[in-house]
Amino acid sequence: MSDTTPSPQQWSPTHGAPYRPAPYRPDRIAAETALAHAARLRLRMDERRTVRSFSPDPVPEQVLRDAVACAATAPSGAHQQPWTFVLVKDPEVRRRIREAAEHEEKVSYDGRLGEEWLAALRPLGTDAVKAHMTDAPALIVVFQQRYWLGEDGTKRKHYYVDESVGIAVGMLLTALHLSGLAALIHTPSPMR
Ligand SMILES: Cc1cc2nc3c(=O)[nH]c(=O)nc-3n(C[C@H](O)[C@H](O)[C@H](O)COP(=O)(O)O)c2cc1C
Repeated sequence: MSDTTPSPQQWSPTHGAPYRPAPYRPDRIAAETALAHAARLRLRMDERRTVRSFSPDPVPEQVLRDAVACAATAPSGAHQQPWTFVLVKDPEVRRRIREAAEHEEKVSYDGRLGEEWLAALRPLGTDAVKAHMTDAPALIVVFQQRYWLGEDGTKRKHYYVDESVGIAVGMLLTALHLSGLAALIHTPSPMR
């Protein structure tokens, strides 16, 4: 890695910013230690559950911010980090999001999903009522950035957006779980 200004060929597609690899010198850990860590983590992760009813008790905002910061360490296609996480705590905004989501969900559960999809959901007992959106103390809304805007205003493509954001959300769920918080992935369809 050099400290000199990179030539245009060295500029990453990451929004035109110079690509600066970070030094990486982790300590090697002994096999027995790795086995013990892996076994403990496996048990801990097996305790995670999707939860659909929430206590409205407040949670420390810094825990949520740290979990989002963990998610943002995720790898991403061409290191473009094509995500935006929005933490929503305001009750009125959550009420409006719930209203919009329930509107879409009602159409979905009333038939838009099709019988095969509805049959797959039936064992879970979910329906169009999404009380968690106003009960839970916070929502984290995850947006994909399918493109970025170059300096000339033209749209530039992001690569592997679904995969990158999926990995980041997995890391978000892991961070929330390991911080002692329950979470639910909610994917209203369509997601307007
Ligand atoms: C991509 C994705 C979308 C999901 N969408 C919803 C959803 O809209 N509503 C819901 O109640 N659960 C949703 N879930 C939660 C799954 O139903 C849940 O993860 C699954 O039943 C397994 O349960 P577990 O997470 O406790 O292991 C979603 C999960 C994933 C990964």
